[in-house]
Amino acid sequence: MTTNIPQLTQLAAWQALEAHYSKIRELHLRKLFADDPQRGIRMTVEAAGIYLDYSKHRITDETLRLLLQLTEESGLRARIDAMFQGEKINVTEKRAVLHVALRTPKGQSIVVDGEDVVPQVHTVLDKMADFSTRVRSGVWKGHTGKPIRNIINIGIGGSDLGPVMAYEALRQYSQRDLTFRFISNIDGTDFAEATRDLDAAETLFIISSKTFTTLETMTNAHTARDWTLKTLKEAAAVARHFVAVSTNAGEVGRFGIDTANMFEFWDWVGGRYSMNSAIGLSTRIAIGPDNFRALLDGAHQMDEHFRTAPFERNLPVLMGLLGIWYNNFFGAETLAVLPYEQYLKRFPAYLQQLTMESNGKRIMLDGTEVKYQTGPIYWGEPGTNGQHSFYQLIHQGTKLIPCDFIGFVQSLNSLGRHHDLLMANMLAQAEALAFGKTPQEALAESIPAWLVPHRCFEGNRPSSVILLERLTPAALGKLVALYEHSVFTQGAIWSIDSFDQWGVELGKALAARIIPELEKGSNCQLMHDSSTNTLIERYNRSSE
Ligand code: F6P
Repeated sequence: MTTNIPQLTQLAAWQALEAHYSKIRELHLRKLFADDPQRGIRMTVEAAGIYLDYSKHRITDETLRLLLQLTEESGLRARIDAMFQGEKINVTEKRAVLHVALRTPKGQSIVVDGEDVVPQVHTVLDKMADFSTRVRSGVWKGHTGKPIRNIINIGIGGSDLGPVMAYEALRQYSQRDLTFRFISNIDGTDFAEATRDLDAAETLFIISSKTFTTLETMTNAHTARDWTLKTLKEAAAVARHFVAVSTNAGEVGRFGIDTANMFEFWDWVGGRYSMNSAIGLSTRIAIGPDNFRALLDGAHQMDEHFRTAPFERNLPVLMGLLGIWYNNFFGAETLAVLPYEQYLKRFPAYLQQLTMESNGKRIMLDGTEVKYQTGPIYWGEPGTNGQHSFYQLIHQGTKLIPCDFIGFVQSLNSLGRHHDLLMANMLAQAEALAFGKTPQEALAESIPAWLVPHRCFEGNRPSSVILLERLTPAALGKLVALYEHSVFTQGAIWSIDSFDQWGVELGKALAARIIPELEKGSNCQLMHDSSTNTLIERYNRSSE
């Protein structure tokens, strides 16, 4: 692939940022706030119902100016336009990248290979609405005539993490008399525990797989079919208890699912960008068509903001640029995502695939190696739990870990003072990280001198506060799109393909080679390295 890409480290903005970094690297947030009483008001942006306070970052107006200059010199605007216009920006797979089309309203158009994809999207959405209404109302019956009470999504990666995260996040909006479970791992424990207390006659499996060839998903799907037929006996039961979500009608048919019960999506939807496609079928059954529509509308609002807002007021662009500032200039290796909202407990796990499968790349679009760091490690846990676990390291450790705090003004479960206490903790953590505690302050608290070094907090640890009104389906759609586009911003500036995932292939191929070597009675000659050979031999000896 020969693509003309900017040599990032040679750009004037990049070099100016390097010089600027060496000037301001020691500058403390205490000083930045003291020098500018308006900082916490000025360095905020509000759009599509999301308030971003980025004042507690180690930046000045000059930093922002240079980062914005970097967007110009690296051609970010053109890359955004190319995505929205359906160009094949996933160059290594020669595909368009159009998760934004999944939430484009009826009547608008996005053309790929001469075809408007928006009507196709709405045809599938209508089919999902019809099916989910029939399941929710009990009109869709199982093989014995009992209504469906349990819905199990079988999928992995993007065909699991989005659905699980969205189900957990929007549980408050879910139909509570239905049980939702998610099976992803090839470890049989996942299947066994998810099904042990369920009646097959009341259970619907959604087999979600873009390719319909993924080892974990197909293994679990076959186990699900055996489990169903063990109780229901007749092969005809499959038609009432299995539906598929896929781009691969051929494999769906071969598995034995009637393609009339298949919900389609397209190769221009990446797995980790697919939760707004038919992959969201379990979400749609859980929360109903109107709430699902609101989820899509929320995401669309963020898409429009990303597409049209000037970069200095553009939430995903600003978040992406701040990430680059720490990743490429401060050398920060990770970023912690800390939702102060229990319903978002799976959000960090969801973001891990979104961010790291997208931007964990070392080869640029022109096939050459990057000369700078790319995607940071994302991790996190909901607050306040994380505070009693790993926050120690963020406050006093030797590593710089920028944090995203995510909070909501209103609770979905207002119980006494719980919500005020939750939010007080979130705000206090951001404050403590930024301003710390000086030796003078510690001494003034009568802390003995020998203990002062342990009791001081150097501060100057950056964070964003992302504040929303209330966790609604629309708010979740906006948050997800915010991170999707911030990942896009970074990938575009780093000139990598954020939409392929070749790094997962080698392990899959090697596993395929080892599988027969672990089968009972196998006497294959082992041709691996001495470590792998010995481990295989040991496993085979012990499992005999
Ligand atoms: O192995 C990685 C991956 O391809 C992810 O990108 C994807 O989300 C996941 O596997 C599942 O793929 P599929 O939906 O095709 O089963």
